[in-house]
Amino acid sequence: MQKLTWSVLFLVISAVELKTNPKIVVVGAGMAGIGAATQLRELGFTDVTLLEASEEIGGRINKAQLGKAWIDTGAQYIHGVVETNPVYCLAKKHGLLDDVLKEEGSWSIFTDKGSKISQKFAENLYTAGEKILEKEIDSCDNNTMGHYFAEEAQKLTDNWNGDTENKNLTSSILGKLGKDLLVTIGASDLNNVSLCSWQHFSDEMKGDMDIGGNMFLLPSKLLEDFPKENILLKKPVSRIEWDGSFSAPDARTYPVRVHLLDGGEILADHVVVTISLGCLKAQASSLFSPHLPEDKVHAINHLEFGSITKIFLEYEEPFWESDVSEISLLWEDESHFLMKADPNQWLKSLHLFTVMRPREKFGNVLIGWCAGRVGNHIETMSEEELSAAVTDHLRAFTRNSSLPAPKKVLQTQWQSNPFTRGAYTYIPVGTDPHEMDKLALPLSGSKGTEPDLQVLFAGEGTIKTLYSTVQGALVSGRREAERLAQHHRRTGGPLVVCPFSSDHY
Ligand SMILES: *[C@@H]1O[C@H](CO)[C@@H](O)[C@H](O)[C@H]1NC(C)=O
Ligand SMILES: *[C@@H]1O[C@H](CO)[C@@H](O)[C@H](O)[C@H]1NC(C)=O
Ligand SMILES: *[C@@H]1O[C@H](CO)[C@@H](O)[C@H](O)[C@H]1NC(C)=O
Ligand SMILES: *[C@@H]1O[C@H](CO)[C@@H](O)[C@H](O)[C@H]1NC(C)=O
Repeated sequence: MQKLTWSVLFLVISAVELKTNPKIVVVGAGMAGIGAATQLRELGFTDVTLLEASEEIGGRINKAQLGKAWIDTGAQYIHGVVETNPVYCLAKKHGLLDDVLKEEGSWSIFTDKGSKISQKFAENLYTAGEKILEKEIDSCDNNTMGHYFAEEAQKLTDNWNGDTENKNLTSSILGKLGKDLLVTIGASDLNNVSLCSWQHFSDEMKGDMDIGGNMFLLPSKLLEDFPKENILLKKPVSRIEWDGSFSAPDARTYPVRVHLLDGGEILADHVVVTISLGCLKAQASSLFSPHLPEDKVHAINHLEFGSITKIFLEYEEPFWESDVSEISLLWEDESHFLMKADPNQWLKSLHLFTVMRPREKFGNVLIGWCAGRVGNHIETMSEEELSAAVTDHLRAFTRNSSLPAPKKVLQTQWQSNPFTRGAYTYIPVGTDPHEMDKLALPLSGSKGTEPDLQVLFAGEGTIKTLYSTVQGALVSGRREAERLAQHHRRTGGPLVVCPFSSDHY
């Protein structure tokens, strides 16, 4: 009798144990996957496997060695210099901001006609231009950012009564702002970008901080306490079967089976998919079995995935002053506000160079920024070809034919990388930002009576308040961990370091 009671009790305990310790697979060890996996551990889930296709964790945060320092080939800006931004908070906590220069450097501007432009004039106008897109816009549906910006920038130019001597340069400076917007968004044409794009953006995103050279440290800091044996690198996923019933050697059945390209497979109760929107676009139709529901496919097809290519230029000697943080190239008589990145005129899109500072840490390194199709074109160029073209370009604008060539050129490859296929999500005209909410919805099996959250989605493209940012990725991953915790009625756990506001979902 006594014995029987014990074994019954044992059975009950194991049933509870099984129910409350689900097997969870997270696909992708970028910030979204890291956010999900670490938060799941915090919430007491112990059976969490983090799968990564490439050789390294970090996703669209990555590094390369250039000269004397490591540089960030991926994300390098913190958007929102406030404690409520978990990325700012975590970067600070881990000491990643300690050697970041606090003061902004100066702005060096060259034009194709050799005019001298005062920084003050340019800054005033640029700031006025930025306000155009901060204004409350009554109706943004079916309107494009390009159309709206061109119209408003024209009004600003016509009515600008500051420095009359520079009157001609107003449209050049606002044109540069348009090109900067393309780089910010990663699009090829501002006329394809929805004017509603930033409608739901969080107010917390005010203020940017360049932490280039330090961002790549963050992913490994966040995974410090995560069991290393649960992180599997070089494990691309070839197929995710869900709504199934797969028997495991432990005599349990699981609804999800994740197939790896190397032939392996992992059974799970839940899979959190954090691959980029670019990868979803390319692979969703073959990756999921059964296929994703129509709403999800609609969201994947109707959101856009932008791309950004950085060109790192390392020089023996700098040709810029030590306090310069940005070098801009302006075209004086460019047809008004041409806001397209045209690969046939790709040098016209190579207008923005930032300086990696401080010089003592990085040496003499510039970053040229290219958006969309221009970036894609640059990714295919050889180092020699790119070096020669960029050097001619800079010599023409600086009117200095002895300007040195860089000793090393390195362009990023986010578009051609099959595990990223670009930079981040943007909202094309005609698409509602709420499509991101649809992308975020979890999928449950058809067999049960209650939702069982078999497939969950995270990533910057699933969060309309923070998309395209590192904190967007991180917060979306944590969001899905919280969703699973609620589902399994798990609460509490230790207090999260650098929490985020639940306004984001
Ligand atoms: C935007 O365009 C779509 C398709 O042409 C149309 O169905 C919709 O009503 C338009 N929305 C507004 C606010 O004009
Ligand atoms: C300003 O623009 C006008 C009209 O395009 C042109 O005639 C004039 O030469 C320009 N002035 C300068 C200083 O470039
Ligand atoms: C941008 O818009 C143009 C014209 O509306 C269209 O032909 C083109 O395919 C669009 N490009 C993208 C990337 O959406
Ligand atoms: C041209 O650039 C070289 C290299 O930076 C510099 O030494 C030289 O002084 C520059 N010439 C002029 C006219 O600025």
